[in-house]
Amino acid sequence: MTKIESLDIPAWGSAEALRKEEHVARFLAREYKMLVNKPVTVDGLNLCPSSGALSEQTADLMDTHYDEKLAFFEGFLDTHYRAYTMAYYGETPEAVRNTDISLEEAQRNKFRLICERIGIQGAERILNIGCGFGSFEQYLFENYPDIEVIGVTPSVIQTSFLNECMNDSGHFFHGKNFTVVQKDLESLNDEDVTPGSFDVVTSIGLVCAIKNLEELHDKVFKYLKPGGKAFHHLITSKPVIPQFLDPTQSLIGDYFPGGRIWPFDELPRHAKNLELINSWFINGMNYWTTLDEWHKRFWSNIEEIRKHLPAKRIRFWSDYFILCKACFLPKEGAFFGNGHYLFQKPE
Ligand SMILES: C[S@@+](CC[C@H](N)C(=O)[O-])C[C@H]1O[C@@H](n2cnc3c(N)ncnc32)[C@H](O)[C@@H]1O
Repeated sequence: MTKIESLDIPAWGSAEALRKEEHVARFLAREYKMLVNKPVTVDGLNLCPSSGALSEQTADLMDTHYDEKLAFFEGFLDTHYRAYTMAYYGETPEAVRNTDISLEEAQRNKFRLICERIGIQGAERILNIGCGFGSFEQYLFENYPDIEVIGVTPSVIQTSFLNECMNDSGHFFHGKNFTVVQKDLESLNDEDVTPGSFDVVTSIGLVCAIKNLEELHDKVFKYLKPGGKAFHHLITSKPVIPQFLDPTQSLIGDYFPGGRIWPFDELPRHAKNLELINSWFINGMNYWTTLDEWHKRFWSNIEEIRKHLPAKRIRFWSDYFILCKACFLPKEGAFFGNGHYLFQKPE
């Protein structure tokens, strides 16, 4: 099947879907190249990533995106971790192209890399902001049974999924030292989470929902113990891309209300009290490959997903996979990829 005619949605891998992706990728390649040749700065754009609310439109973001029907997420995410962030296939575009590992293995690779970069020992108390469906927790408890995690997410769907897992005596999460707080980071208070009590604070895929980076670092600083570490994994661009920094100026705002793509250097620039230990840029072909696998699985489960979602939402998500893939393609992932950042609170 190359298309669901009644819905006018091209299949994964069809000529029409590939053409759409290629057109957007070509347009973006020209934009990115122009920005590399004539760079702009975030300061020049007058964006103030160090003032105002920590995040904006969080309720919209949940409604539009994260609180979509569970059947949608179950229809494309990897079955083991249910991770909703880039999987790690390799360091270079060639390595990514030449690997034949599964999405599940590539997600495991990502979490292993994150733990190595943080230097997880196995008995830490971790605050994981933006915990999704517990993907990182799955990896942590499988590999470090003595770890304690408090996960935070404003999503009703994610929280009820996780609480059901924890209440199910047959589920892996049952009896683990794992608590979920259903809140956004801004409204988290000292009763929910004790300040100064965490060895590690992590965020995997959260920072594109954050507007005030200085406030993010201040919050993280507050929750860490002296000497504690903070680790962030986020989508990032090499050139500053002005339209991706204002959610009202691009399709990013349609899919991620209040969202933005921070340039690679931006997050560390706003860390006043935390010391940057290291940062890494991960080639965007890793995300392209992850999205392509998600899109493929979405398409192969389309009949089941259709039972739960109206046609306009199926079209919305089909376009989403195609558009997102196109962002990572130019210059084989060198412009647009993921950033890893490790910070430490002084002793
Ligand atoms: C891209 S998902 C990543 C989920 C998970 N970390 C993973 O890798 O599978 C982003 C997560 O951030 C959460 N999130 C978005 N805005 C947030 C906010 N303001 N405060 C806390 N969590 C937020 C979403 O609900 C979701 O759980």
